[in-house]
Amino acid sequence: MERVATDWDRYHKRVRVSQRFLWTVWRAYTSLLSGFSFSKPIKIIELGCGTGYHTLQMTRLYQVAKVTLVDANASVIRDTERRMSSLGCEKEFLLRDLFSLDLEERYDIVHSQGLLEHYTPEEQRQLIRLHRDLLAPGGIAIILVPTTSLTYRFWRGLLERLNQWIYSDEVALSREEFVRQLEDSGLEILKIQGCHLTEVGAVCRRRDGVK
Ligand SMILES: C[S@@+](CC[C@H](N)C(=O)[O-])C[C@H]1O[C@@H](n2cnc3c(N)ncnc32)[C@H](O)[C@@H]1O
Repeated sequence: MERVATDWDRYHKRVRVSQRFLWTVWRAYTSLLSGFSFSKPIKIIELGCGTGYHTLQMTRLYQVAKVTLVDANASVIRDTERRMSSLGCEKEFLLRDLFSLDLEERYDIVHSQGLLEHYTPEEQRQLIRLHRDLLAPGGIAIILVPTTSLTYRFWRGLLERLNQWIYSDEVALSREEFVRQLEDSGLEILKIQGCHLTEVGAVCRRRDGVK
């Protein structure tokens, strides 16, 4: 079946009022991040940053030297830049397509949530390799995707019936597929867990010997 790209403008209008969901996702991040610490101020990059909410929250958890936020949607990057204007560390906002992102800089945390599931399996592997290649030595990648849980299927089915489902190209991943995609893309999984009944999240590092 042909994939129809999600209308991100429509999504972001909705997210403006959906702080509760962002907070729920942040709780999943804190659980994934527990036990990971850094000995110096870190650099963080968020791929497909949307609101940038989780990067902002990380700046309260860790000492942060720099944040980089990347999204292909112009109004999103504008809003996120405005929202982060009072943040004290160095900031960079990039209006770019991730599939042609070529950055020299390397990061201690590379993360995304709600991104991979909008792409084909081969594109997912490209995006995971991008997370991997942006990692500084000792850095971690954090990736959250929706998973094919009963709650996800119930919730999605309900919204589809109510004509409220807007993620036209979203394909949830089973935990097994997610693990396979991460491992096939040169990441070693350090922690993986179900998050708020509809997503699965993993903390990974670059596998030794991967070029
Ligand atoms: C579900 S939203 C992410 C939400 C985000 N985690 C948050 O907390 O607000 C996915 C985002 O990825 C962006 N995106 C999707 N494909 C992209 C691509 N190829 N390059 C850059 N950004 C992309 C979309 O514009 C959208 O803002």
